[in-house]
Amino acid sequence: MQIQLPDIEKEALAGIKTASGQEQLENLSIKYLGRKGVLTQFLRHISSLPEDERPGAGKNANLLKVKLEKAFKKALNNIDAQKSNAFTGIDVTLPGRPALRGSLHPITQVAKEICDIFLRLGFDIAESPEVETDYYNFEALNIPKYHPARDMQDTFYVSENIVLRTHTSPSQPRVMEKEKPPVRIISPGKVFRCDSDLTHTPMFHQVEGLMVDENISFGDLKGILTTFVHQFFDKDISLRFRPSFFPFTEPSAEVDILCVMCKGKGCRVCSKTGWLEVLGSGMVHPAVFENVGYDTDKYTGFAFGMGIERIAMLKYGIDDIRKFFENDLRFLGQF
Ligand code: PHE
Repeated sequence: MQIQLPDIEKEALAGIKTASGQEQLENLSIKYLGRKGVLTQFLRHISSLPEDERPGAGKNANLLKVKLEKAFKKALNNIDAQKSNAFTGIDVTLPGRPALRGSLHPITQVAKEICDIFLRLGFDIAESPEVETDYYNFEALNIPKYHPARDMQDTFYVSENIVLRTHTSPSQPRVMEKEKPPVRIISPGKVFRCDSDLTHTPMFHQVEGLMVDENISFGDLKGILTTFVHQFFDKDISLRFRPSFFPFTEPSAEVDILCVMCKGKGCRVCSKTGWLEVLGSGMVHPAVFENVGYDTDKYTGFAFGMGIERIAMLKYGIDDIRKFFENDLRFLGQF
């Protein structure tokens, strides 16, 4: 029986058209193009053809071979494309992807903790500008031009009379100019000093406190600050009031707590003193009251200021202030 090329072609193409999957197509491909396939058999039997038909038959058989190879390839590609377009469905048993949740920066958390303690003691929050006039940052606080205390502050000047505030104390005259006693405020915020090392950054945070009324005494200062230290650190922690100097308070005192690392024995953290300074404070200087028009015979008051980074470092045992500003999520996520 003679096999005819056009018959092979018709049959093979019809098979490709109706094949319903990869496996069927591969089987068909073997049937027509494989080593024992229909086309191979045809090529083998060419030698039995009359001599003048042989070149034509060989050529046509090879052309058909190429044509079928292309047709198979195209059909297989179509199947692949259909597969990747196919809707695979939703696997409702897969665990959900949790939404990443941020958290408050440790400095924000500690600032809030400090403010909450004073809010419970009846203080109000009074914010004040970061870009400040020389007047409020210095003059109103009894720090005249050329006063040596200005050197301690490493001031960033914006212009001759405008500075980045070097402390939160300008909130004191700002509040007192607007309000009559009794005054009970705390004022948290950013402050700036041209300084940078393990324990200093050019920007850091402070909380200022101010309480003014009739008959406010140094005893009130001690009572309020002792209550604060006990609530913030630990109700059993020892503290001491150490005489100090600030131009805007008289008398002035710095508050130290017993070193949280060595409990007073003396170590690297407390520079062998056994104590850690946590804040500056004092009775408001009469010159400051005069600048804001308060009657110095009638009113007295106390003020205090503390560095938030410093307090956070002591509370959490952090040894490098720059960690707060590197934005390493592994550090920030611990609070
Ligand atoms: N402003 C002072 C400082 O930055 C702290 C302070 C505030 C001291 C209020 C006394 C009273 O060091």
